[in-house]
Amino acid sequence: MTTKTPRQFFRPLAIGAPEPFRELPLRLERMIHFVPPHLEKVRAKVGDLAPTVDIVLGNLEDAIPVEAKQAARDGFIAMGQAVDFGKTGLWTRVNALNSPWFLDDITAIMGQIGGKLDVVMVPKVEGPWDIHYVDQLLAQFEAKYCLPKPILIHAILETAEGVKNVETIATASPRMHGMSLGPADLAASRAMKTTRVGGGHPEYKVIADPTSDGAPRAVAQQDLWHYTLAKMVDACAAAGIKPFYGPFGDFADEAACEAQFRNAFLLGCAGAWTLHPSQIAIAKRVFSPDPAEVAFAKRILEAMPDGSGAVMIDGKMQDDATWKQAKIIVDLARQVAA
Ligand code: GLV
Ligand code: MG
Repeated sequence: MTTKTPRQFFRPLAIGAPEPFRELPLRLERMIHFVPPHLEKVRAKVGDLAPTVDIVLGNLEDAIPVEAKQAARDGFIAMGQAVDFGKTGLWTRVNALNSPWFLDDITAIMGQIGGKLDVVMVPKVEGPWDIHYVDQLLAQFEAKYCLPKPILIHAILETAEGVKNVETIATASPRMHGMSLGPADLAASRAMKTTRVGGGHPEYKVIADPTSDGAPRAVAQQDLWHYTLAKMVDACAAAGIKPFYGPFGDFADEAACEAQFRNAFLLGCAGAWTLHPSQIAIAKRVFSPDPAEVAFAKRILEAMPDGSGAVMIDGKMQDDATWKQAKIIVDLARQVAA
């Protein structure tokens, strides 16, 4: 009797990858929590913050003023040296490859805390050539500083050109960890008429047909990001890397943030960015599977021990495909409980 195991999503690309990449542990990454490392008072709290989130990311790119770029880089290095991150991932978002800061960012960080860094998030990736460039640089630094493990690359999908090339970006290197949708830059790149960071827009809607009784017509707001998110999820799943939703800028609207995160979770994303402490609990709740869903998924696995055939559970047909769906939910629940 053989057990069918679904394709192992959400690992750095393993096919043909050198041995060190295949040994990397599978991590729970429900939120990528952004901190602005140039602010002393924020840095002072990172030791307490780290155990409460899955990833701490020191942001060096957009939202950091030009005059604070050097302070952010230095602050990130100081934070990386001072804090024991334990099981929490340590990431940075460097400046764009064509900016005046990227080369200094990567050189300083790899030289000082390369051994503690897990992932470099690269903004405004337009094609596989951007990933190849960062890949080679990281390989040079790993060799120079004899680093114990490979540093992975996470791309932000936030330009129309990047969206066009999403499949080749996803498979550009065995270092590819995953990808995040960047709705703010993508909106600008596409000349969308919005000034928001992610989320919906009240004018992006569908109006139901008029009825003969003249009742008010139903209005349904649509998801501006569905197409790109779905395209990105497919590219990532096919490459065996992780997709993420990016930022949600209206910190006061927790319900809308939760809805955006939940759409991403249901569609296949592993996590989302949290830019404000109030979003951490939302991401934790949304990207951990619902206990009732887990209980039902376990019943499917128990009813089909070898993952094949067809059974009825509570009037619903289950077969090889739903067994694979159930396994993803149960595996995620195990990771959350570990
Ligand atoms: C993130 O960087 C975005 O542009 O949304
Ligand atoms: Mg951006």
